[in-house]
Amino acid sequence: MVEQVINVGLLGLGTVGRGVYRILKNNSTGIEQKVGARIEIKKILVRDLAKNRGIVPEEGLLTTNISDIVDNAEIDLVVEVMGGINPALEYSLSALRRGKSLVTANKDMVALHGRELFEAAEANCCDVLFEASVAGGIPIIRPLKECLAANRIEQVIGIINGTTNYMLTRMSKEGLDFHQVLKEAQDLGYAEADPSADVEGFDAARKLTILSSIAFNTRIALDQVYVEGITGITAEDIAYASELNYVIKLLGIAKESAEGIEVRVHPALLPKSHPLAAVSDVYNAIFIRGDAVGDVMFYGRGAGEMPTASAVVGDVMNAARNLLKKVPGIISCTCFEEKPVKPMSATLTKYYVRLNVVDKPGVLAGIALIFGNHEVSLSSVLQRHTTGNAAEIVLVTHEVLEGNFQDAIKLIKELPTVHQITSIIRTEGD
Ligand code: NAP
Ligand code: HSE
Repeated sequence: MVEQVINVGLLGLGTVGRGVYRILKNNSTGIEQKVGARIEIKKILVRDLAKNRGIVPEEGLLTTNISDIVDNAEIDLVVEVMGGINPALEYSLSALRRGKSLVTANKDMVALHGRELFEAAEANCCDVLFEASVAGGIPIIRPLKECLAANRIEQVIGIINGTTNYMLTRMSKEGLDFHQVLKEAQDLGYAEADPSADVEGFDAARKLTILSSIAFNTRIALDQVYVEGITGITAEDIAYASELNYVIKLLGIAKESAEGIEVRVHPALLPKSHPLAAVSDVYNAIFIRGDAVGDVMFYGRGAGEMPTASAVVGDVMNAARNLLKKVPGIISCTCFEEKPVKPMSATLTKYYVRLNVVDKPGVLAGIALIFGNHEVSLSSVLQRHTTGNAAEIVLVTHEVLEGNFQDAIKLIKELPTVHQITSIIRTEGD
């Protein structure tokens, strides 16, 4: 019998690329048995041929010329683990237009240019697989597209950024402040030197764009996602939240109701009893509610060399099987509807509000009156005397329309008895 081989062109040999190389080498026997063909890396594109990478690829494998991959007729499958938009997008589209299936870990490219990639794949009968683009090693794209396909998905709530989950966990356990834990996360290599994509919520927003597009069969654009990061979260808020029986997490939230889809990333108070509340450190988890399955949760490592490469190689094996069976392109885009996205002002949430106010009778009544006039009712109130004639008040509202709440807050800010509104954080999952 002729030995079957699927040849791969790897774009990038950094953290994830190295993991892909290692798994394809170390687990080659099992992979060959499972796929029915040997998977061989034929060429690897890098910027710097001389760089020390901790692995020594075979002579002649590395190249700096993309043409050695996209114009190489022997290469069946391209794995893009370079990152960024360009030239990753240009190279990925070139590969698809030459009939090569694509596996990518690139959330930025999939979130912003998914439509172009899928259209090129469809026109050329190729697969585009991107399991590693959301939550690293956690299987979530294929479960959502395939295993849960029978459901009408009601909500997807995820802890999908490991750096911020690590930071919030440390702030919560040690009472440390934001800047201390950010430095720690950078020293440990979790947060980038420029950590804004993580702490401002943009990394989670890109991942939520991908998840919500699949969950609701509607292409969600990145600018339709409301984004708020964790830079305003303090150790005091975390302590108050704990007193009220909540933890604070950066959540990606996507829900569907009769009025449309809501997609938002923001820090939220989550009841300690919620399954996501126990997800600590750099771990990620995605909680999904489907009308048939009920609640399911996926948990694991959202980043790192081997967990991310595990998802990439799983996709490579899937695409390789399709090539062997001569059915590439069978896994198509699932965005066949165009559901509206609700404006943020139309979302219903509960709020935690911390205020510094004048410590005298009637102050709380004045705040409650403004809330009442805007149909915002309160479910709990904590009051602490702080210094001099100032007091700190912590309020939690019942579920309110975002628009009504924001209108009330504008008026409360103007009250002469209110020194400062220190924090406003939504709650989720009650
Ligand atoms: P990385 O360590 O920076 O590696 C990038 C690789 O791509 C390097 O080998 C680099 O070559 C090569 N490269 C970049 N631009 C190039 C260009 N213009 N021409 C040729 N080669 C180029 O990145 P990574 O952490 O592995 O991430 C790769 C992708 O996986 C990104 O899309 C990222 O978002 C995604 N991802 C990463 C993780 C993670 O834990 N790291 C988790 C999930 C998803 P040189 O080595 O020669 O510089
Ligand atoms: N920066 C991301 C995180 C990892 O902290 O989760 C890659 O997606």
